[in-house]
Amino acid sequence: MPRIEIVPSILSADAGRLAEQVKEAESAGADRIQVDVMDGHFVPNLTFGPGVVEAVRRATSLPIEAHLMVERPELFLEAFARSGATLIEVQVEATSSLYRTVQAIKELGAKAGVAINPATPLEDLREILPYVDLVNVMTVEPGFGGQKFIPSSTDKVQRLRALSPKVEIEVDGGIDARSAILVVGAGATVLVAGSSVFGYKGGVAAGIKAIRDALE
Ligand code: DX5
Repeated sequence: MPRIEIVPSILSADAGRLAEQVKEAESAGADRIQVDVMDGHFVPNLTFGPGVVEAVRRATSLPIEAHLMVERPELFLEAFARSGATLIEVQVEATSSLYRTVQAIKELGAKAGVAINPATPLEDLREILPYVDLVNVMTVEPGFGGQKFIPSSTDKVQRLRALSPKVEIEVDGGIDARSAILVVGAGATVLVAGSSVFGYKGGVAAGIKAIRDALE
């Protein structure tokens, strides 16, 4: 069984204590940190730029994923790579040159990921699959933290795992101790968790522990 990676996403962190919260997550055994980048066009929300990735980089030595929920992500790859993102993921729906974009991410020295929204068919990934390190199966409609896990995501993860035994399958949105069991059982290996970690009543460490314990 591959190690399941837990990736707190900073959207739900306390922005006034970001460095502290990132350090808490690292001490609690988080495997990576995700910066949820939103441009107010691809999704109806506006969040972070490369400067926040730099701030997270100063706070931790963990790998940092930049999830670009933005139109024309190809315009921002170099800025996010330079700011310290070790993996850059773009939405399959957001660019008309996905192959060139994936190649450009790799030429910048970062790992390449593609994210796919709930209503986008897996078929749209078929041709790019051999070129990417990670696929993020969005288990909510992207734009906000704290949304409900979409139950049909489990079957989508299962079908993707059947398509590609090797690719890292990440899930993102509404992932907590309960939904984690479903998606890991279906073949996911990377769990993005925002509100179930930074919004957990017992604190960050307890939130990460709750997910890990559920997977024991
Ligand atoms: C896209 C955001 C969220 C976030 C996870 O909407 O990027 O998916 O990472 O948020 P939670 O874990 O609170 O659903």
